[in-house]
Parts: sequence; structure tokens; C-alpha cells
Amino acid sequence: MNHYDQLIQAALNDVEESNSSESVETIRVKYFGKNGLATKELKSLSDLPVEKKKELGIKLNKFKSDFFAKVELKKKRIEQNEIDSKLQKEYVDFSLPGREYSSIDAKVHPISHTINEIVSILGNMGLKYEEGPDVEDDFHNFTALNIPENHPARQMHDTFYIKTDDKETSVLRTHTSPVQIRALKRQELPLGIFAPGRTYRCDSDITHTPMFHQVEGLVVDKNVTFANLKWFLEVFCKTFFKKDDLKLRFRPSYFPFTEPSAEVDINYKINSGKIILGEGSKWMEILGCGMVHPNVFKMSGVNKDVTGFAFGMGIERLAMLKYGMPDLRDFFDGDLRWLSHYGFSFFEYSDLSWR
Ligand code: PHE
Repeated sequence: MNHYDQLIQAALNDVEESNSSESVETIRVKYFGKNGLATKELKSLSDLPVEKKKELGIKLNKFKSDFFAKVELKKKRIEQNEIDSKLQKEYVDFSLPGREYSSIDAKVHPISHTINEIVSILGNMGLKYEEGPDVEDDFHNFTALNIPENHPARQMHDTFYIKTDDKETSVLRTHTSPVQIRALKRQELPLGIFAPGRTYRCDSDITHTPMFHQVEGLVVDKNVTFANLKWFLEVFCKTFFKKDDLKLRFRPSYFPFTEPSAEVDINYKINSGKIILGEGSKWMEILGCGMVHPNVFKMSGVNKDVTGFAFGMGIERLAMLKYGMPDLRDFFDGDLRWLSHYGFSFFEYSDLSWR
């Protein structure tokens, strides 16, 4: 084997044996760089006699194109190998178990949980779920509820007024009662609805937050009586608090949109810091209720021979009594420690169907 054949053989071998992009490049430079071994040979061809030059010229040029073809091929293979090994390393193992569910990670807020419970009970008692807007107009929040302008009852509600382009004043609803009007206006009688949601009053202290929750109830039919209302609320409260011997007190009260009106208190005592329901001598107000005032029917365009009862309950109050949170303001502080203590698991659902 002559000196040229040895060079060719060695060069092609070197390429064959290289195993990284860098080493292929080093070999390219070794043979075909400026001072490469093959470059030198090609340069020295000009010193050879014509015949020899022609023969070697063909040989070396074929070698050059073989060499570069091999280099290209090698580079491609190496690249592919690198991609393959990267894919191997970064492969996602879908059979790995998921992250363990941690009870601190996420909890259902007691308000959401309590609303779910209320929806379940009132739904089972035959009422239909209804929603109304948080931003109400004056008519639905006040006037249609028999609270005309300058009526002293407007002062009972510390209202947030909202500036709009409309002539009609907008407010953040101060109670869920405007949903009564929206339901009555549809004129679909008999009617049985409940409407949980956010309500707003410009008030903030230990027992008041500017945003809180209520659930409204309204039942309208021929001959609905106060006795029906009393029975309905007793069943609701006993089911909600899971206590058959719960004592309720209907105390005469005043709301412009009901006549007669009552507030309902439940009986409790405090025993070593804990609330015990149905015992002792303390009473806590949980809701307002009454028989729908004739003016409310009139304002909503209902002129059939019907009667109805309505009630509005504070959801935070119900939750605090049932689950024992001592301070209302904590509900909306967004403290995860509070939520992890008082919150509910997603998988915790209630067995609260109506008995
Ligand atoms: N809307 C009243 C309140 O916010 C509660 C209520 C509702 C009273 C329905 C009677 C009937 O205090």
C-alpha cells in the first residue's frame, strides 16, 4: 500500500471511529484544514509530472468527496444519537404516581360548603335555584319591595351606591330580596324559589363585613299561610343543623316587604368556649321572614288571588353556628391556616337530603 492509500484509509477510518460532533470536526481539520494532511498532498500535486498528477488528482479528488460524504453522514448519525439519548433521558414516565393530595393544598371555603348544603336541602324541599345580579337598580332593591324613597327603612341598609350613566340609581344589592321581585315579575305561579348569593352593606366591625352572603326564599301559591312558613323553616333548620330537638323562636319584627314579619332566633348555650345548640338560655337571630306584603305583589304585577311567604337568612351566621368559627371577619381574610382548619375536603359531601 503506498503512502496515499495509507492516508486515505487512515482518514476514512478516523471518520468512522469518531463518536461526537467535536471529534468529527477535529478530524476534518486534521485532513482538510488549511495545513491538513490531505490539503498538503493536494498542494504538492502541482510539483509532479503530468501523468502522475492526473492519476493522483483523480484519486485524491474522489477521496475528498468520499471523505466529506462520510463526514456528513457521520455528523447526521451523531446528531440523531444525541437526540435519541436526550429523549431517553427526558422521557416522562406516565406510570409514576401523582402527587399526594395534601389537605393543606386546597380546601372548600366554609361559605361555599354551607351554600352547597343549603342548595341541597332547599332543593330537596322543592324550591328552585335562582340567581340575581349583585349590582341592582333602585327599583328591585328598594321600591318594588315596598321601600319608597325617603322611607326610613332605607336607612336600615347602609347602601353602597354606584355611579352609572343610567337615570336609574344603581346599588350593590343590600339583600337578596330583589330576587323575589325578579321571580315574581315572570308571573309563573305557583312559585317556589331560593336564591343564595353575595350582598353588600357599608358596615364593618366584629359582626359585620361589607360583603356577606344571604339566601332568599319565596313561596307563592293559593292559600299559603304563616303556618306553612313556620313548618318550612323548622324543617330547614333541623335538617341543616342535624338536630331534631332544635328550638326556634319566632319573634315579631318589621320588614317593609312582609306583613306580618318575624325574626327567627335559635336556642344555644356556650360550654367551655363551644356553642351547643338546642340547650341553655341564649338566643341568636338567624333569619328574617314573613308573609309577602300585598304591595310587593302589586309592584311586581301579580294580581292573582295568591299569598306567599318569604325569608332571608345570613349564610355566615348559619356557618358560624354550625361549625363554630368565633369571628366573622376571618371568613374573608384569605388566611390559608384558617382555611386549612375550617375548610372542607372536596370529597366531603353532605348527607343532607330532606328526611
Ligand atoms: N331582606 C331581609 C334582610 O336582609 C330579610 C328578609 C327576607 C325578611 C325576606 C323578610 C323576608 O334583613
